[in-house]
Amino acid sequence: MIVYVSRRERFSSAHKLCNPTLTEEENNQIYDKCAYPNYHGHNYELFVTVKGEINPKTGYTMDMKILSKLMKERVVNKLDHKNLNLDVDFLKDKITTTENILVSIWNELDGPVQSLGCSLHKIKLVETENNYAEYYGN
Ligand code: NI
Repeated sequence: MIVYVSRRERFSSAHKLCNPTLTEEENNQIYDKCAYPNYHGHNYELFVTVKGEINPKTGYTMDMKILSKLMKERVVNKLDHKNLNLDVDFLKDKITTTENILVSIWNELDGPVQSLGCSLHKIKLVETENNYAEYYGN
């Protein structure tokens, strides 16, 4: 019996959208105010869903305290109150769109979640009230 469990964590970060191989005009055309050179910020919400069997000893698929700790150590503490373009090892040389951040977060969490006996099902990253992206690993 497979059960899906989810945890939300939040972080606040600065970023700008810029493809360094394009001209300033092209970046402005594609990204508009998101390309503003002095950066801007978002209050992100990160939802991680893992799936697995219910452990008969604990009654948990995964202890939410453990998932929370994992999300903080691997992701949130590296992003919160940081500049996503400059400060984050796993986002180096990436355009910091919600899509790219999302896939990078998946890659950070996939191994550790598996080592706890579950697997990642979905990661959802909410950038604004109106914009979010989801990733299922392929
Ligand atoms: Ni933005």
